[in-house]
Amino acid sequence: MKIDGKRFRSIWIDEADGWTVRIIDQTRLPWSVEIPRLTTVDEVAFAIRSMHVRGAPLIGATAAYGVALAMRADSSNEALDATIKQLGATRPTAINLRWALERMLRVLRDHPPDERMDVAYAEAAAICEEDVAANRAIGTHGLPLILGRAKMQGRVNILTHCNAGWIATVDWGTALAPIYMAHDQGIDVHVFVDETRPRNQGAALTAWELGKHGVAHTVIVDNAGGHLMQRGLIDLVIVGADRVTRTGDVANKIGTYLKALAARDNGVPFYVALPSSTIDWRIADGIVEIPIEEREPGEVSTITGQARDGGIATIRLTPWESAAINPAFDVTPARLVSSLVTERGICAANEASLRSMFPQEDEVY
Ligand code: MRU
Repeated sequence: MKIDGKRFRSIWIDEADGWTVRIIDQTRLPWSVEIPRLTTVDEVAFAIRSMHVRGAPLIGATAAYGVALAMRADSSNEALDATIKQLGATRPTAINLRWALERMLRVLRDHPPDERMDVAYAEAAAICEEDVAANRAIGTHGLPLILGRAKMQGRVNILTHCNAGWIATVDWGTALAPIYMAHDQGIDVHVFVDETRPRNQGAALTAWELGKHGVAHTVIVDNAGGHLMQRGLIDLVIVGADRVTRTGDVANKIGTYLKALAARDNGVPFYVALPSSTIDWRIADGIVEIPIEEREPGEVSTITGQARDGGIATIRLTPWESAAINPAFDVTPARLVSSLVTERGICAANEASLRSMFPQEDEVY
């Protein structure tokens, strides 16, 4: 996608040196576009943990390049195992991380150490290309959900939560891919963007990227969605996912579940867009089996924004003595999901439908 007319992906190899990994620092958006360089596996682990890169597919792609950087420094079996372990511990919920690391390990262990660096860079690049293709396909499959509404009524109002746009993936995004395609085809789409406390991925990131692409949008507080649905102001909800069980339960950013409940109560379709790298074929019960990341309480008790003088400031919101907890994801049970939008097409959120869509996927493990 584009930033001010210039084409970008969210991760790439530096053209000049051919090996360092460039990312867009998402902790600096929307105030400035900064493009740091990652040169070691430690830097990659830090970038993932501290959410300089975030979003399930991008976390996986970044970890894959982290393996490549590690193999550049030391391609022994011991280093390979340590790298997989180190990167695997950075964030617990997005399954794309484990998916990418297991894929890298599977490929690399069949190669002697002196070949591993080149193979790792090639595999990481392949993961990135496949992510772009999958998200483009998600856009194509999801587009009719919007077009159908547009034919009936003109403007289509869509609610989304967190950021499942191009900067959460390598390109296109998941939930936002059909929206970008609808917009590019001249459909009048308007997006209600949940601010997504505590880190404000909606207010800071989704609003930024929709704005850069010229998509009409309005930021709302997280609690406004149910009210807007009751007033008939939301035609459909579409969100991304960090992990989907083989039975169709969906882990996504905290607050997603409440939107699904409100959507069900108001007869609003609730769609989840995901590439197959987000499906965890090993588990069936999302509420019991998906590990939910607990982040720093400080993300709840403070907020970061731009002061009038242009400086970025973090201020305290809550009394100094008040405790806070910060579960970063929740699980929406499959029964509340109208459909899953994948790179192979749209399917019901249940095991039979997912298996018919991806007949061989679970054999990978
Ligand atoms: O904590 P984050 O910002 O990594 O969480 C991201 C989300 O919850 C996204 O909605 C999800 O990863 C889908 S990204 C295409």
